[in-house]
Amino acid sequence: MISNTTASYGRVSRFFHWSIALLVLADIALGLIGKFTPRSGDTVGFLQLLYSAHKTIGMTVLALAMLRVIWAISQQRPVPLHPERRLETFAAETAHWVLYAAIFVLPLSGWVIHSAEVGFAPIWWPFPQSLPFIPKSERLAGAAANVHWIAGIVLAAMVAAHIGGAVKHALIDRDGTLARMWNGRAAGKAATHPGKGASVFAAIGIWTFAIGGALTVFAPAHIVEGASHLPAQQTEGWVVQEGSLSFTITQMGAEVTGGFANWQADIDYDEVTGTGTVKTVIDTTSLTLGSVTDQAKGPEFFDVAVHDTAVFQGDIVQIDGPTHRASGSLTLVGQRVPVTLDFDLEVTGGTATVFGGTGLDRRDFGMGAAYPDESSVGFSVEVQIELVATKTE
Ligand code: HEM
Ligand code: HEM
Repeated sequence: MISNTTASYGRVSRFFHWSIALLVLADIALGLIGKFTPRSGDTVGFLQLLYSAHKTIGMTVLALAMLRVIWAISQQRPVPLHPERRLETFAAETAHWVLYAAIFVLPLSGWVIHSAEVGFAPIWWPFPQSLPFIPKSERLAGAAANVHWIAGIVLAAMVAAHIGGAVKHALIDRDGTLARMWNGRAAGKAATHPGKGASVFAAIGIWTFAIGGALTVFAPAHIVEGASHLPAQQTEGWVVQEGSLSFTITQMGAEVTGGFANWQADIDYDEVTGTGTVKTVIDTTSLTLGSVTDQAKGPEFFDVAVHDTAVFQGDIVQIDGPTHRASGSLTLVGQRVPVTLDFDLEVTGGTATVFGGTGLDRRDFGMGAAYPDESSVGFSVEVQIELVATKTE
């Protein structure tokens, strides 16, 4: 039978129950494997595949969950087999409502993480990548990740209790509860259905406590916006007041931008001759690159544990008007490579504005040797620098 009766689950309800149950259990397993896999250059490819599978399965759950609710609204609910056991019936029904909510809360919070963070594992076709109106923000991604984690705990605990209940019905009570969900056999007297008010209320209470807690008392203190401000720095001829040093790479076909929060520029520049020198020391441990920051800092790429600074040193010449070029070398992960940086420099009333960039090839520095082609990480790295400096007297 396609539809439910008051004593049995029809084919459609059973299809939704078991397909979603299987996908949810698979996704809990994938999520946990992902959480406990160490982040390094060696595991980044595996993690990308794992999280793409995790997200796509989760999105499938969300799509099925929407159809399931529409279907359930149109259906009768089979009555509990032992309505006289009021506490047990209440607990079972509460678990059902909590589980119904979980198949929305988990995928939606996961989708918010994915939309708010930069880069990493894409959701596969046919699902869209981003929820509308969700900005790219580390703080938001962090808060959503915490909701996702706490919701995952609620879900896992409820599934454990739910499976425990099903097993108890099958082995101890030896009634038809499991059989009617498994093969659609009818069980139970089509009579009374206890009111659902109390169990719905209890389920709402559990979720309010879990999500409210995830956003407040259980929120990790380290959820902070990625620091990108540069403190005023003392240089010989010029003091850098503000600026940013960022770079863009292509990861799995999508552009990902990261940057360094901490760097120092020593600039000597003579406005009359249009010449000077620049030395920039970059604290590579201050690197952020969206959700792949840890991998980027790892031994395969920036290897910050061994090489915590990178240095660009060069001579500045004026090419034409504001157009300048700094020719020199960049020392990164112990490799010194010749680099030219083209930039526009405008000086007005003792304030200099610099805007420029250069293109690098990660292979020149031996970075990402485990990624010999461009399918995961592109070869070219576009570096952008912007700064405002004032002249010291
Ligand atoms: C039924 C659906 C889902 C379940 C049961 C589930 C469960 C989990 C679990 C148990 C974890 C590991 C714990 C953690 O790190 O928080 C996790 C992590 C994660 N999930 Fe899901 N998830 C689901 C759907 C989704 C969806 C649809 C997305 C994105 C579109 C997603 C994105 C993520 C991400 C990005 C992480 C890593 C979080 C972090 O590193 O903090 N999940 N998920
Ligand atoms: C392998 C594990 C599972 C077993 C053995 C199992 C067993 C059952 C059984 C026997 C029922 C019928 C209860 C009754 O008629 O009173 C049921 C209902 C239900 N189960 Fe599961 N279940 C499992 C996993 C899950 C998972 C992972 C979820 C959700 C994430 C879930 C959600 C539900 C819901 C919402 C109901 C209420 C009936 C409905 O409206 O579809 N179950 N389950």
